[in-house]
Amino acid sequence: MEKINIDGQEIFLSEPEEITMDFTLRGEPLRQLLAAWVLVSDNDFPLHPRLVGKPGTGKTSVGMAASKMLNLPLYIFQATQDTRPEDLIITPVIGDNGKIKYVASPVVSAVIKGGVCILDEGNRMSEKSWASLASLLDHRRTVYSIIAGIKIKSHPNFRFCTTMNEDASTFDIPEYIESRLQPVIHIDFPFVEEEIQILKTNVPYAEEDLIMNLVNFLQNSHHMNLPFSIRDGINIARYTKKWLAKNGGDPKQAFEKSVYMICGDIGLSIVKGEYKGNGIFGF
Ligand SMILES: Nc1ncnc2c1ncn2[C@@H]1O[C@H](COP(=O)(O)OP(=O)(O)O)[C@@H](O)[C@H]1O
Ligand SMILES: [Mg+2]
Repeated sequence: MEKINIDGQEIFLSEPEEITMDFTLRGEPLRQLLAAWVLVSDNDFPLHPRLVGKPGTGKTSVGMAASKMLNLPLYIFQATQDTRPEDLIITPVIGDNGKIKYVASPVVSAVIKGGVCILDEGNRMSEKSWASLASLLDHRRTVYSIIAGIKIKSHPNFRFCTTMNEDASTFDIPEYIESRLQPVIHIDFPFVEEEIQILKTNVPYAEEDLIMNLVNFLQNSHHMNLPFSIRDGINIARYTKKWLAKNGGDPKQAFEKSVYMICGDIGLSIVKGEYKGNGIFGF
């Protein structure tokens, strides 16, 4: 763990994410995000967008792809209902010698190192936690750690975005925080070509036939307002290949079995062209 000194206080930093995978560059959302982060003059500062959409539409991946394009280290903080303000800033932990050491969260490590921070699933955490980031997300660009008794000014390269699932609004985020999380970038399911590319990137050993069957299944599901996502598609491809490697047999049957095991009856009825419902997204 890297260690730095701020106002006489020793702080240990979180490690950036190691991302080895390639990303399919989603034209419009990526353009919108990168534009929010551009600086147009010396006294300008970046915006902090909200990436909003249904689960599995690729929100987190858009943030990751952007950090890769900018060649900045990436830090991801997974927000939950239990996230406390200090979890976002600096937490005290007992070191090997029994002494307290201060560990910077991924958010604050990005602030210090000048990296990209994705605060993932931001609408799962409470107003109290968001409040601890208020001064970071406006012109002050400064975060305060009450626990370590220090004030940290952001590195000029610090960039921030948060993702929010449309279906998981655990907490309503107050207006003064929402106004700091602008603009809103809506992320929808990918177009056919992008979806093919994403599946190929994630499951490069899947045959063309399997990929095309999957894309048909996914695109039909998107049009029918069903919640099956790229993540489900990737899992179906992987399980189909695993099943065949272990048991052999007919690839079509293995595909249908995987769809059933991952997306249930409704998924299978889509593949068979027998689905008669109206979708189950309730929003
Ligand atoms: N642009 C992309 N390039 C490569 N893989 C992607 C891309 N978008 C999504 N994926 C794949 O789909 C999965 C779901 O995407 P993710 O970004 O986690 O969705 P969300 O954050 O909206 O729930 C990821 O694990 C990733 O493997
Ligand atoms: Mg996500």
